Amino acid sequence: MENALQVKNLSKTFKAKAGDVVAVDGVSFEARKGEVTVIVGPSGSGKTTLLYLIGSLESPDRGEIRVFGEDIATSGADLIQYRRVRVGFVFQFFNLISALTALENVTLPMDLRAVPAGEQRARAVELLERMGIDARLQRTKANRMSGGEKQRVAIARAMANDPDIILADEPTGNLDSATGRVVVDILVKLAREDGKCVIIVTHDESILEVADRAFHMMDGKLTDHNRDG
Ligand SMILES: Nc1ncnc2c1ncn2[C@@H]1O[C@H](COP(=O)(O)OP(=O)(O)OP(=O)(O)O)[C@@H](O)[C@H]1O
Ligand SMILES: [Mg+2]
Repeated sequence: MENALQVKNLSKTFKAKAGDVVAVDGVSFEARKGEVTVIVGPSGSGKTTLLYLIGSLESPDRGEIRVFGEDIATSGADLIQYRRVRVGFVFQFFNLISALTALENVTLPMDLRAVPAGEQRARAVELLERMGIDARLQRTKANRMSGGEKQRVAIARAMANDPDIILADEPTGNLDSATGRVVVDILVKLAREDGKCVIIVTHDESILEVADRAFHMMDGKLTDHNRDG
């Protein structure tokens, strides 16, 4: 399968009064279309920072992030467009807009791209049904939903603009294990059936089971999972 993402020598240091923190330290890896890449590491190891760099929510101090060959960090790529259509984010705390319905949360990213209203709605309904969110739940406000329902809505939202890359930050962190399993299975399907490049960062080693590629993250450094056991 094609390399969707190539990260090379990526570094990010946060300056703080108490001392600088090297959150991401010379990270290199590749991830492919149709595959699930899982990065496991303890709290503070730099997982979220790495995902934010890949998703261009943070800018790196050094290094390359190539998406289908184009370096988004230095090429002058349109980063707003990149965030909207090339990557989709799934967060630990869902980050839905609580006063909006499930349907409205999923149409919002399409609205930002000025997709016609009818088309937005049709795609949102299709995605939500696929995630097992029925017609009643589609009209329910996010703050009335269970964690598992919220996360399935959040995945539909991440898919709204049909991105190449899905970045999931601790997607099961606030779910019980059975619900977490459902969410992981959905993410796996997005890779296998839709050909997405899915990257999951987590402290939950059990997610390694579904990984096509696996890495450990520690103190900002990435190592191959098989190499260090
Ligand atoms: N905006 C920031 N300013 C200063 N330091 C930061 C910032 N964001 C992260 N850090 C520091 O960078 C390091 C890596 O943080 P990061 O959030 O990437 O870790 P993580 O692996 O996602 O942890 P967790 O599992 O707890 O979510 C930590 O030491 C953290 O305190
Ligand atoms: Mg984190």
